[in-house]
Amino acid sequence: MRQRSIGGTSVSAIGLGGMPMSIEGRPDEDRSIRTIHAALDAGINFIDTADAYHLNAGEVGHNERLIAKALATYGGDTADVLVATKGGHLRPGDGSWTLDGSPGHLRQAVEASLKALGVDAIGLYQFHRPDPKVPYAESLGGLKELLDAGKMRLAGISNASVEQIDLARSILGEQNLASVQNQFSPAFRSSEGELEHCARLGIAFLPWSPLGGIVRAGELGSRHAAFQEVADARGVSPQQVTLAWMLAKAPVVIPIPGASRPESIIDSARAPELELSAAELARLDQA
Ligand SMILES: NC(=O)c1ccc[n+]([C@@H]2O[C@H](COP(=O)([O-])OP(=O)(O)OC[C@H]3O[C@@H](n4cnc5c(N)ncnc54)[C@H](OP(=O)(O)O)[C@@H]3O)[C@@H](O)[C@H]2O)c1
Repeated sequence: MRQRSIGGTSVSAIGLGGMPMSIEGRPDEDRSIRTIHAALDAGINFIDTADAYHLNAGEVGHNERLIAKALATYGGDTADVLVATKGGHLRPGDGSWTLDGSPGHLRQAVEASLKALGVDAIGLYQFHRPDPKVPYAESLGGLKELLDAGKMRLAGISNASVEQIDLARSILGEQNLASVQNQFSPAFRSSEGELEHCARLGIAFLPWSPLGGIVRAGELGSRHAAFQEVADARGVSPQQVTLAWMLAKAPVVIPIPGASRPESIIDSARAPELELSAAELARLDQA
């Protein structure tokens, strides 16, 4: 698998998003473990998770524990696998997503994630989403303290504007913002400004829900005709075309398609091999 970089750490150009294996509609554990092992077999060494990827109250860290278990039971070497988790979002168990961006919560969340992942330092820790009740600089100050304390090797942010990216760089230190994780897909392109900003600064940009999200990913080709047409011409899936289109945008882009079946992630992992022509890319940009 072709490699890209997050804060100087080499990772596969496609990551695995863990969310579908722990929220509504999740499969049984055996299928999830097979999905994660299939990703590793395909050369993926970057996995995205969050403490809030769970269903019921009382199972915070479900997805983190699942990934830790899959890594522990994998037959091959997992030393170079970068696991990225997040804190700052909560799920009380009624289906809703709430926020707590206070430094006190982040301190407690990071300890819980260290335990759930079974590590001494988290590979990449991302502040999940700005909390309107807490000044952003305060949340970032909390993240910086945890970075300085060695709780994480790399720090990132998610759901951030260009201004928030700049603020994060000034608070964490210019070289210490490793990644920005924002929504970006054929249906959701308004984060292209942040993508370009990250490309200029050399910060990894991790598109979330790159295929349109768990519910709509299967309909990508019927919702976006140009992606289906390029896929048909190339004999690949429209999901693979989408990921290849994103990868071509800038060397900092590392999409994290979710999966709950081995087949999905095996197909997505082929995207770095698909070289789209300038004409195809221009067409998809305009679609
Ligand atoms: N930072 C944030 O606020 C935030 C928000 C949302 C998501 N995320 C992260 O981003 C990741 C990806 O987003 P997402 O999971 O919401 O949506 P997504 O990646 O757009 O779609 C996920 C769905 O795509 C299907 N899929 C994947 N590859 C496919 C392929 N090659 N062909 C056909 N179908 C394919 C999977 O189906 P199967 O389930 O059948 O395998 C999966 O359920 C999440 O897992 C999570 O790690 C972050």
